[in-house]
Amino acid sequence: MDKIRIIGGNTLSGRIRVKGAKNAVLPLMAASLLTEEEVILHDVPNLSDIRTMTKVLEHLGAQVSFEGDTLRIKANNINCFEAPYELVSKMRASFWVLGPLVARFHQARVSLPGGCAIGTRPVDRHLYAMEQLGIKIDIEGGYVLASGKPQGNKIYFQIKTVGGTMNALMASVLANGTTEIINAAAEPEVTDLAKCLVKMGANIDGIGTSHLIINGVEKLHGVSHTVIPDRIEAATYAIAAGITGGQLYIENARLDLIENIAFSLNLMGLNISQKNDCLFVKASSNRLKATDIATEEFPGFPTDVQAQIMALMCLAEGTSTVTENIFENRFMHVQELVRMGADIRLQGSRTAIIKGVDQLSGAQVMASDLRASAALVLAGLAAKGETIVNRIYHLDRGYDHMEEKLRSCGANIERIKEKIDE
Ligand code: UD1
Repeated sequence: MDKIRIIGGNTLSGRIRVKGAKNAVLPLMAASLLTEEEVILHDVPNLSDIRTMTKVLEHLGAQVSFEGDTLRIKANNINCFEAPYELVSKMRASFWVLGPLVARFHQARVSLPGGCAIGTRPVDRHLYAMEQLGIKIDIEGGYVLASGKPQGNKIYFQIKTVGGTMNALMASVLANGTTEIINAAAEPEVTDLAKCLVKMGANIDGIGTSHLIINGVEKLHGVSHTVIPDRIEAATYAIAAGITGGQLYIENARLDLIENIAFSLNLMGLNISQKNDCLFVKASSNRLKATDIATEEFPGFPTDVQAQIMALMCLAEGTSTVTENIFENRFMHVQELVRMGADIRLQGSRTAIIKGVDQLSGAQVMASDLRASAALVLAGLAAKGETIVNRIYHLDRGYDHMEEKLRSCGANIERIKEKIDE
């Protein structure tokens, strides 16, 4: 199992390019099942989650090929309608193939994902959406068996769900009649999926809002689509600039996608501005200041940046609070940050109170999930001495060449390859 070793204390300066958003690529790959023609995606990051989705599509019979960061998928020979447990349990987004399989082939057998480190994460809302569309759903041996052709209807999400909205959207584009998705998630990745579906011939109104209206069409066609930039990756590097007191140009990044994060970082003492397709981030010469955040659906503060901003708060002057409203168990990084000298107290399972300390110190820490790993790397960049982040495979799920990008801007960071699993 690979590890990352960091000697903290270097100030970062330079340029880092952000790739297309992982959380947009995964549903776009699932959407390729909606047509027999070729789907070409540009600016695709090199990540283990993308490789897992590739395996899911190949298992179904699709042809998938990479040329650099261009991904080509042709689903003209689908000969199986099953997403197996081995792949869905590895990556929850594999479950997103349910909607497109049902839409085009009127049948699917998809493993239930199960829980994960950040909570139980049920899929009841996905299944409710399918049932609203007239799909028959049975659960058997840990699998969802879905059958029937989708019929347009109203889908009302009581809880906003990103994946549920995507699955419902993909299931309804080829449905008979009109579907309304009410209280839909409006995350930029949902919008990117909807825009790509429209390029493929779908008829969708209300894109970018929480009320989507889909008029089913007979057929979708192929597409060439450049994936929206990864706002979570951009925010992570903005925090890297802040935590090291440095300055970075973050290329292929959009302020409008991270406005809420930029607002909080600004309050803490970071200057962030858009210069063409770059974000310029500069830490002020004064000490960082404490602030409070609460995670919300877009355009609120994203849960996927909660752990990273907490690392920054550990070094800010004063007391910050973080309230996690999206997931029930997303504070696994807290104990690891405490091992590095942070002063964090949990109040119930949803609130963390962070008293800023003058200095963190390097330690051996354990990554528990993707964004928690990023938070530990960020803390390590600022800490005194050596930090070893174990279980780095979590990081490889969502950050393309993170250590190389950070090293090119002055960080003392390296990957230690280990053959034997602990
Ligand atoms: C997606 C993102 C993830 C991000 C999350 C919230 C991908 C691949 N993943 O995950 O990085 O953190 O959005 O922005 O895009 N829920 C239910 N029943 C359901 C579905 C969800 O109760 O059927 C709950 C979840 O447990 C969670 C909340 O709703 O508490 C939001 O989850 P959801 O928006 O669905 O997240 P994902 O799509 O899984």
